[in-house]
Amino acid sequence: MDKKALENLLHDMSLEEKVMQLVQIPGSEYEADAEITGIERGQVKDDVKRLVGSTLGVWGSKSLKRIQEQYIKEHPHHIPLMFMLDVIHGHKTVFPCPLGQGATFDPEAVKKGAEVQAKEASADGVHATFSPMADLCRDARWGRIMESTGEDKLLNSRMAAAMVEGYQGDDLKDRNHIAACVKHFAAYGAGEGGRDYNNTELSEHTLREHYLRAYDEAIKKNPVMVMTSFNTINGIPATGNKFLMKKILRDEYGFKGVLISDWAAVGEMINHGFAEDQRDAALKAMEAGVDIDMCSGCYSGHLVELVKSGAVSEAAVDEAVLRVLNMKNDLGLFEDPFRGIDTETGAVVTAESRSLARKVAAESLVLLENKNKALPLKNGKTAFIGPFANTKRLQSSWAFSGEDENTVTVYEAAQEVYESDKIKVSEGSTIMDQDAVTARGKCHVDNWEEENEKLLKEAVEAAKWADTIVLCIGEDSTQTGEATSKASLKLADVQLNLLNEIKKTGKKLITLIFTGRPLELKEVAEVSDAMLVCWLPGTEGGHAVMDVLSGKVSPSGRVPASFPYTVGQEPLHYDIYPTGRPKPENGPSEYSSRYLDCENYALYPFGYGLSYTTFEFGDVKLSADKMTAKDKITVSAKIKNSGDVKGEVTPQLYIRDVAGSRVRPVRELLDFKRITLEPGAEEEVSFEINEEQLRFWTAEEKWASEPGKFFVWIANSSRDGKPAEFLLQM
Ligand code: NOJ
Repeated sequence: MDKKALENLLHDMSLEEKVMQLVQIPGSEYEADAEITGIERGQVKDDVKRLVGSTLGVWGSKSLKRIQEQYIKEHPHHIPLMFMLDVIHGHKTVFPCPLGQGATFDPEAVKKGAEVQAKEASADGVHATFSPMADLCRDARWGRIMESTGEDKLLNSRMAAAMVEGYQGDDLKDRNHIAACVKHFAAYGAGEGGRDYNNTELSEHTLREHYLRAYDEAIKKNPVMVMTSFNTINGIPATGNKFLMKKILRDEYGFKGVLISDWAAVGEMINHGFAEDQRDAALKAMEAGVDIDMCSGCYSGHLVELVKSGAVSEAAVDEAVLRVLNMKNDLGLFEDPFRGIDTETGAVVTAESRSLARKVAAESLVLLENKNKALPLKNGKTAFIGPFANTKRLQSSWAFSGEDENTVTVYEAAQEVYESDKIKVSEGSTIMDQDAVTARGKCHVDNWEEENEKLLKEAVEAAKWADTIVLCIGEDSTQTGEATSKASLKLADVQLNLLNEIKKTGKKLITLIFTGRPLELKEVAEVSDAMLVCWLPGTEGGHAVMDVLSGKVSPSGRVPASFPYTVGQEPLHYDIYPTGRPKPENGPSEYSSRYLDCENYALYPFGYGLSYTTFEFGDVKLSADKMTAKDKITVSAKIKNSGDVKGEVTPQLYIRDVAGSRVRPVRELLDFKRITLEPGAEEEVSFEINEEQLRFWTAEEKWASEPGKFFVWIANSSRDGKPAEFLLQM
C-alpha cells in the first residue's frame, strides 16, 4: 500500500478503531494452547478482540490461519492482525542462550543464527520477535543475564546490531525475515541488588556511556520496534519516561519505529506510585510516546475517553497508529496477510540450521580450567555422569517454541563418537534440591531423597568403572530467565554432593557447567581437572560439547560476564571506575579499596577463555605515539600459536583514558576479532583507533574526547597484557 493509501485508511477509521491498533492482547485470548504467563484467559471483551492491532504468544499455520481469517472478516477495514512472539535464541532450531552467544565474540555467526530464527519463525506465521535484548548486565544475581550478551557495552552493541540485521534482512516483505524489537529500553539490567523488575538509580554519564550504548548501536540498524522496560530510572518508570522515550530515543537516536510497552508495564506505573489509576497510566504512557500497550488494558479501557476529554490529542493517537500501520505495511501484510501460514509445512529443523547451531554452540563453550591438558578426552573408559549428561533440557525458558525431541543430548552425541563398551551414562542426581523455587513455583519431587540416594549409588559405580568422568552439572532452565533472581550463585546442594562423592573415586574429573548465568565455581574448579562452561547450548548442544571434548574443535569461547569468587562481589564487571585508593597488585593493601576476605576482581574475568593450544602475545606497537582528531593510530601486536594444535584466539583491544574531566574506566573494550592460527603460525593483528572512539560524556554533559594520555592493550582477556601509550592532541 502506498503512503497516501495508508493515510486515507487512517482517516477513514473511527477513533475506537484507531485506539485498538495501539492495543496488544495475549494470543491465549484467541488460542487455547498459547504460551502465556501471568494472565487468565477470557479477560478481554469480544469487541476488543475484534479490533486490536496485534497479539503475542501464538504461532503455527493451523491456529494463525483460523485467527487471521476470522479477524480480517470481522474487522471494519479488514486490517490484518499482527502476530508477535518471543523468539529469543531460536524458534525450532534453538541456538545457545544469548549469554552463550555473547561468549562466541562472533557477531557474524550470531547474525546468521538470527537469520535462521527469522526464517523459521516467519514460516510459522510470526511477524515480529521481541529480540534482541540489549540490556547491559553486571549482576549475575539477575536471572535475565542469561538473555543478555554480557557485561560489556561494545560486545553487546555488536551482538544486538547483528541480531537486528539477521532478523530483518534488507526487506521485511521477504518472507524469510521478521521485525526485530530492541528491548528493554532502558537499563533493565541495572536493577538494584540484581532483583528482577527492581528500580535503578544511574548517573546520566553511566547511563549514556554504558547502559544505553547497545540500544543505540542496535537502533542504528533500524529495528522496527523498541520495547520499554519495567524498571524506574532515577525515580521515573521507563514506560512513562519522557526523557528516555522522547529526548533520547526519538530526538537523539532518531527512532521512527513502533514503541511498545513491556507486558502490563503501562498499568504497573500504578504500583510504582507514578500513576493514580489506569486512566492516568494510559495518559502518562501516551505522553511518553508509547505506541502499543502490551496487555495492561489501560489503552483499551481509557484512551478513547482520554481523547474525547481532550487530555490526549487525536493527532498523537494518529501518529502512533500510523506507525503501527506502517509496520504492517512494511511487513507486506496488506497484500500478504497470510504470509507464512498459507502452507501446512511450517517451520522445520534442517541439516543446515543444525550445522549452524552446532558451530555457534561449539564457539560458545568456554574452557575455564584445563590442568595438565586433561582435555581433549583421551582413549579409555568414560562415564558421563550428572543430571545434564543425558537430558534434552538444554534450552532456556525462553525457547518454548523449540521441541525437546530435536535436541541432541551430550550422551547421545558421545555415542556417535565412542564405542559403546567405552562409555556409560548415569544421572547422578536431580537438577534441583527438594522444594527449590523456580519462576513458576516450588519444585517438589515425591521420594526425592530415595531417588537421589539411588542415583548417587549408580553414579559412584559408573565412576569406579571409568578412567575419566565427565560430570555434567548446572542450573535448571527454570531458574534462569525472567523472574529468577537469586541471592546465591552456588550450584544446588544435591549436585555439589554428587561432585564430592564422585571426586572421592580419584578418577580424572572433567566438569561441564550448564548455566544461564555466571556461578560461584571456585570449589568446583579446585576439584576438577578441567572445567568447561556450556551455557544452555540448544538443539545441537550435545554435538557441540562432544566436538570440543573430543578435540575435533578447540574451545574458543570467552567469558562474556565475570564469574565471581563469591556472590558478595556482585555487581561485578571489569570496566570499573578507579578509586583514590586502588588496591596494589603486590605489596601491602591496608586502607585500599578492597574486600578483606576476597579479591576485587573476578575469578574468571571478562574476555578470558582457554584453548587446547597456547598463544603468545607480543608487545603492543603503535603507528605513532600521538594522534589528533583528524588522524588514526594503528595498534598492532604479533600473536603466535605456541602450542601443537590449531586454535582460534580472540585478541581484544582495550583502552584507558588516563585522566578526564570525569573519571574513566580502568579498561574499556574498544575492538576485538577472532583469528585462527595453525600450530607455530604467527600473525600480526592490528586495530585502528580514531578520535570518535575516545569520546565520553564529559563533565560538560556532552560527548567529547579530551586531550591527554591513553593506555592501550591488545590482550587475551580484560586482565591480561602490557599496555603501550599514546597522546591525543587537539
Ligand atoms: C515480558 C518480558 O519482560 C519481555 O522480555 C517479553 O518480550 C514480554 N514479556 C513478552 O513476552
